[in-house]
Amino acid sequence: MPPGTTTDQTRPFAAQSRDETAELLTKAVNLGLDFKLQPEVFLERIPSVEARDRLISSFPVNPGTVEDALAEFAETMLPLCKNEASPQFLGFGDTGDDVGALTGGVLALLTQQNLINQSFDSPSATFIEATALRWLRELIGYTNPQVEDLKTVLDFGGVITHGGTMSNSLAMMLAREHKVPGTMETGVRDPGRFSIVVPRDIGHYSVKSALKWIGLGYQVIEVDTEGFRYDLKALERALREHEGRIMSVVVYAGDSRTQTVDDLRGVRDVVRAADERIWLHADACWGLMCSFSDRLCGKIAGIEDYDSVTVDPHKVMAVPHSLGALLVRDPASLKAISSHSGLIMGDDFDCGQVTPFIGTKAWLSLKLWMMMRTHGRSGLAKLAEDRVDKALRFADLVDSHDRLIRLHTVDMMAVTFMYIPADVDVTAPDIERINEANLRIHERMLADGTWHLHHFGLPDDDGVLKYGVTLYPLRFMAANPRIEEHHMTGVLDYILELGATFDEGSL
Ligand SMILES: Cc1ncc(COP(=O)(O)O)c(C=O)c1O
Repeated sequence: MPPGTTTDQTRPFAAQSRDETAELLTKAVNLGLDFKLQPEVFLERIPSVEARDRLISSFPVNPGTVEDALAEFAETMLPLCKNEASPQFLGFGDTGDDVGALTGGVLALLTQQNLINQSFDSPSATFIEATALRWLRELIGYTNPQVEDLKTVLDFGGVITHGGTMSNSLAMMLAREHKVPGTMETGVRDPGRFSIVVPRDIGHYSVKSALKWIGLGYQVIEVDTEGFRYDLKALERALREHEGRIMSVVVYAGDSRTQTVDDLRGVRDVVRAADERIWLHADACWGLMCSFSDRLCGKIAGIEDYDSVTVDPHKVMAVPHSLGALLVRDPASLKAISSHSGLIMGDDFDCGQVTPFIGTKAWLSLKLWMMMRTHGRSGLAKLAEDRVDKALRFADLVDSHDRLIRLHTVDMMAVTFMYIPADVDVTAPDIERINEANLRIHERMLADGTWHLHHFGLPDDDGVLKYGVTLYPLRFMAANPRIEEHHMTGVLDYILELGATFDEGSL
């Protein structure tokens, strides 16, 4: 290394550099907080290829200062970053801005506990992980063992994961082991026996991908829906037709598009009547929110009878990425997918035994513990109810415009709607033209970067325009507590303006 190029900041962290490090971290925290508070979703929008060419650089030969790296970050990366905490970002809602959760995240980073092992890697963190899981279980109505009966990690009743996709994948592994115990050891034979049932066109890709990841192949039976819920008669028929070949029925407590909660009790009854051994899995990535409030929890009634439930606090609890969980009705069921190693996870409380695919795992749950510890039940109830009230208000605003049409009843905090071009008669709708208008509107919205709504393909399951056709609507989500009336009217005015431009032929 040439003389004079070493800086203090490349030396190991030590007492002498503590204050300097604190100053740098404070600078970084301030940058991040100001970013979250900026009203804009994006400060700058450029094509992907331009971002690639601007940002990918060669590996520096010599050391540099953290200050310089911070300056480069602020100048080149931050302006292109998406600010999901902006109240103008109205398509999703992973705001990640809960103050308690942010505090927990910082402390998790600094304490560097490793949840793979309890005794020497995470002596206290393991039991905070267990506490967070027990609080989540309590919310959805699973019973918890007494604290003195917690003898091993298999009594915790769930796994903290990196999100909904991983939780759903673990659920599919549990379903597989339930169907043919010992597959972990013997491998999969006759994959056709491991089919799953999902609702047609409204499910999340993760369960289908999970089947491929865990060596089962694409064993998916899609069942028709009505109003974004299983058609129970069609479900009954599918269970009869594929008798003996189904390992799991997957239900959405809030689907990814309209956030409609399925009839959890109805599905449970149909499945249990057909085959007691089918693994019932509820994806409640969104539906967890209903459990916060007495007013809303009826929507997910029956979820406590499902064998496993996926929840995703980074979606509905403003917890910074990433944090999900899989909860299981019978805590001991996790034994079927556990693994052991005397190397690092040989002790009874080692969470690593029940986290397939993950070795070292950060103290993700501290964010969640802090969030739930600071809000309490009543704080969570208010959060959920405010969101639903805002979604209902947005639905009213959509309904009050002739050129906008809403595609479903509001069940949670999502409102999916479309712009109807002026030359379209909704009684005999030209679906292609309506889709085209909404596609163009969304493209322009992404390029502008001022407002954000989500966009995807959706079957017209309520027959609002034409039953069964695929629509490409816009989706509002009322997750962010900073959303006010003027944001809702503002984004609709913007859509109507773009719609008028489309009508004139200039979008
Ligand atoms: C219903 C549902 N399940 C699973 C997922 C996947 O969650 P994650 O992105 O946390 O892996 C999503 C994501 O939007 C979802 O909407």
